[in-house]
Amino acid sequence: MNEPRQDVIAAVKHFLEQGTKLLLIDGQWKPSSSKQTIPVLNPATESVLAEVALADRCDVDLAVAAAKRAYEDPNWTDMDPHQRGLYLIKIADLVEQNAEELALLDTLDEGMPFSDSLAMVKDVVKTFRYYAGWPARVHGFTNASPGAIFSYTNREPLGVCGAIIPWNAPFIMAAWKIAPVIAFGNTVVLKPSELTPLSALRLGELILESGLPRGVVNILPGTGAEAGAALVAHHDIAKIAFTGSTAVGKSILSSASSTLKKVSLELGGKSPNIIFEDADLDQAIQVAVKAFTFNTGQGCVLGTRIFIQESVYNEVSQRIIAQVKQLKVGSGVENDTDIGPITNINQFNKVQGYFKIAQEQGATLEVGGETYGDKGYFIKPTVFTNVSNDSRLAQEEIFGPVAVLIPFSDEKEVIQKANDTNYGLGAGIWTRNLSTAHRVAKALNAGTVWINTYLEVDPIAPFGGYKQSGMGRELGQDSMLEYTQVKTVLIRL
Ligand code: NAI
Ligand code: MG
Repeated sequence: MNEPRQDVIAAVKHFLEQGTKLLLIDGQWKPSSSKQTIPVLNPATESVLAEVALADRCDVDLAVAAAKRAYEDPNWTDMDPHQRGLYLIKIADLVEQNAEELALLDTLDEGMPFSDSLAMVKDVVKTFRYYAGWPARVHGFTNASPGAIFSYTNREPLGVCGAIIPWNAPFIMAAWKIAPVIAFGNTVVLKPSELTPLSALRLGELILESGLPRGVVNILPGTGAEAGAALVAHHDIAKIAFTGSTAVGKSILSSASSTLKKVSLELGGKSPNIIFEDADLDQAIQVAVKAFTFNTGQGCVLGTRIFIQESVYNEVSQRIIAQVKQLKVGSGVENDTDIGPITNINQFNKVQGYFKIAQEQGATLEVGGETYGDKGYFIKPTVFTNVSNDSRLAQEEIFGPVAVLIPFSDEKEVIQKANDTNYGLGAGIWTRNLSTAHRVAKALNAGTVWINTYLEVDPIAPFGGYKQSGMGRELGQDSMLEYTQVKTVLIRL
């Protein structure tokens, strides 16, 4: 299904009229202390979708206090782990039952085509179900000890977590932060981006409906400078989980040092996608196009540097350009849209800034390179060639539907070029040769390497960055390590 149904549109309308002006603190919806609200825009039309409460420092204090009370309440601390799992299953079921409404909220707020939003909501359901299996499986070890000593370890929760998420793919970002918090017995104050807070607020309603104890999950839209900074500085927060730009990630890491919080960071990328001459070219080309245009290029892990082996460069580059020309730009609620709008005006301007940079550095514009329509933040999907790997166009995260095509002669050269970046989030390899695939996968400095596919993320597998793409991992067993700490108990017998 590509277009939202009438009853789904009506449900979203109802939510936007009733449900967005409040913050979720201590299991209740409350106005912000300052009573301040901000308009949230639809980037396809530039019209106001809703007014949303804007949290300030006082609201952060209230929410952290509530999360601390919830954390210290035996009702949560001593809860049967199976029961924590049941809450996660219940939340997953509620998200599934309201999938289309949640997808439409993200499409209206963030811009993503409705079919992609719906696929993301299904991934959110999977994420909550995955984490439902964890609470009863957390365990420690019995240590090898000399004679009269007995010692063992436990994995215990951290306490109150602060979660800060960006404006791209807001619903799945919220799920990646909230689900592990619940699974491992922590509590959380989540700050969605003030630009795209709607699906997180609706998730807050569903979490209340699930019966999860009050204060375990608190949701506060607010700005980074005010609510975000207050979370990072707060004494009673044990960990900050952040997704966003590398620049803000670095500043969070340094601010968090004064209270020595744990910090996990999912940051930017400029991921290489490498097409060898022996690849299934039909598949490689089709996926390579999706891998840099998905969500209008607003994704940390997208394959925006496409390396193509010289022997097939002409064919592959021409076919990529031809496919990009076919993509339909438009509103995410229209049936045949491939590329929705950029999510906000700052980003819209930033992407256009790179078109100027491309011109200045003499890159060849093959397709796109301009805005589309006279309303909404639309940008045509864009491909540049004649780009050197050390240029700004090939090194900086543009966060728009923009790829550079770079030829290479052999494996050694492409490994060197692919790794020649400050980032290290994702990488793609297209080849039919098993040895090439494994050798190159081993050589690439990236947290996720895809072979003959791209973009596939599953909660079973850890996700995160090498180098300046981040610290720590989300999802998979690694997230258990990120959301718990080890206690050693040592007994003299
Ligand atoms: P950002 O990094 O400022 O925003 C991400 C989140 O951090 C938002 O919730 C924001 O309110 C919060 N934040 C901002 N400053 C903060 C602070 N000092 N303390 C605590 N929280 C703070 O990203 P922005 O400015 O919206 O976008 C800038 C660029 O970053 C984009 O052009 C894009 O290139 C990149 N970006 C990358 C993302 C990724 O997932 N890799 C996500 C969003 C942006
Ligand atoms: Mg918006």
